Amino acid sequence: MLFGDPILNSELLRLRSDLAYARLKARLLDLKHKLTEREPFDFVSAAKEGPTLLVGEGNLSFALSLASRMGSAASMLKATTYETRSNISNVAKNNAARLSKLGSPVLHGVDARRLEERFPVTRFKLVVFQFPNVASRRPLHGRNPNHVLIRRFLRSARHVLANNGRVAITVIDSPHYDGTFSMHEAAAWAGLSPPRIHPFWTGDHPSYTHSNTQDENESALVRQDKLQTYVFEE
Ligand SMILES: C[S@@+](CC[C@H](N)C(=O)[O-])C[C@H]1O[C@@H](n2cnc3c(N)ncnc32)[C@H](O)[C@@H]1O
Repeated sequence: MLFGDPILNSELLRLRSDLAYARLKARLLDLKHKLTEREPFDFVSAAKEGPTLLVGEGNLSFALSLASRMGSAASMLKATTYETRSNISNVAKNNAARLSKLGSPVLHGVDARRLEERFPVTRFKLVVFQFPNVASRRPLHGRNPNHVLIRRFLRSARHVLANNGRVAITVIDSPHYDGTFSMHEAAAWAGLSPPRIHPFWTGDHPSYTHSNTQDENESALVRQDKLQTYVFEE
């Protein structure tokens, strides 16, 4: 319905487009909930299936928590940090030493966007990035830098995946991050399947103290945050 008054008409058109956008968002949210599994992704079982690579590990506490529940299979787990050895925290150094004792190699200075350069031969059954986040907020190619990081990581991870290999990314469940990461589009861009989404319960990972990008000793999470793991396949 249009009126004779052009201002009223343009206001009406704006309201219609706002309404269409709100309906689309509600439908996408509904779809996301339908696609969300009830059970968390079983990292321990998945990591026991074959060579596993953890990237951007920060203080290495997730790697340590996983390795300590893998028994002798811990030797198949490679834990990596983006920072060089001289730039990691004392907590990370201590965790690295404990990982080595469990048989898990630890590597530093590994860029999640260029895994194929660092791992030209090994093919991984599982590649994991927990809470990817770049320190910068400066846009890259006009996009949020975390949006770009996810895409480049997925594309690179695909190059180092074994047959039937999987890529897992855990993030905070929020409309803000849904928009930033656009996981389904990122998967298509990187040539991976649409992800399955699982809840992530920190209680399942004893001694994992999620670290902040800016301060390795500080958690970026608040207690009420809902977390989820996206799992991609080729
Ligand atoms: C929020 S912290 C999470 C750290 C750890 N994964 C955890 O869950 O505690 C984000 C991490 O992403 C890492 N990171 C940022 N850009 C990266 C890149 N290009 N390759 C690998 N790691 C990266 C940072 O070094 C930082 O450790």
